[in-house]
Amino acid sequence: MTGTGDGFEALQFTHVDEAADPSLHLDYLKTISTVPGMRPYKLLSFDLLNARDGDTVLDVGCGIGEDLPKLGELVGPRGGVVGIDSSKTMIEEAKARMSGLPVRCLQMDALHLDFPDRHFDAVRSDRVLPYLTEPARALREMVRVVRPGGTVVVASTDWGSLVVPGNNRTVTRSILDLRCDRVVHGWLARRFPAMLKRSGMEDIQVRASAILVPDLETADLLFGLTSATRDAAEAGAISSADADRWLSDLERETAQGTFLSTITGIVAAGRRP
Ligand SMILES: C[S@@+](CC[C@H](N)C(=O)[O-])C[C@H]1O[C@@H](n2cnc3c(N)ncnc32)[C@H](O)[C@@H]1O
Repeated sequence: MTGTGDGFEALQFTHVDEAADPSLHLDYLKTISTVPGMRPYKLLSFDLLNARDGDTVLDVGCGIGEDLPKLGELVGPRGGVVGIDSSKTMIEEAKARMSGLPVRCLQMDALHLDFPDRHFDAVRSDRVLPYLTEPARALREMVRVVRPGGTVVVASTDWGSLVVPGNNRTVTRSILDLRCDRVVHGWLARRFPAMLKRSGMEDIQVRASAILVPDLETADLLFGLTSATRDAAEAGAISSADADRWLSDLERETAQGTFLSTITGIVAAGRRP
């Protein structure tokens, strides 16, 4: 089984460049982009963005730039796409992957967007706000730089919605709670509609899609199941014997071909009045 290591788990995506090995974060994003269940979730976020030919679009926390080519397709050659990320590691990778495409990738903090008010037709952010200590402030920045009538889309998995097989419910809940609480705001996605409303957005729309991860190796990489189980035992939330049993249950489900895990992706959009 693939463990994810402390550098990745402790820092999450809040300070990628300070991780012991930031390349783990790159690998994580590359792996998740290959999970088939991600596709419907991503499509929902593109759909709600409502970007048209000639529009200018900002992707906040673009990571390795996975979504930038699709945004470029939506706005066409007359439009413009900018991806920003606070991590130098991410932006360098995004720039390398976007070579030849009319997309700009800039290192920038979501809390201080270096763009004039009302600059973009649409602004989006996928799986970024839950990792920020001040997500409402980042959303205010996104709203500031979108034009009146423009769209803001916020999307993320909600870490409270992680489902994995587990025969012992108490042990399973302890492990999944610990995993969720490693994210700065693990339950934030369910509050996206409320956040958009509070930031003054109108016509709020919400979609959700369960992301299925049917193999343990990928699930362990994406969800950090082994390290969360070990940490739960170390913290005394479960016994070491329970931890061993829980992990071997997952291995057995895998051997029997019955392992599955899912997490819900939530996408919310609003229009700036
Ligand atoms: C889970 S990744 C998502 C990347 C991309 N949106 C995607 O869907 O593939 C989160 C990204 O948010 C970035 N991030 C974290 N804090 C940030 C901040 N304050 N400002 C801008 N980006 C930030 C991280 O560096 C990382 O690339």
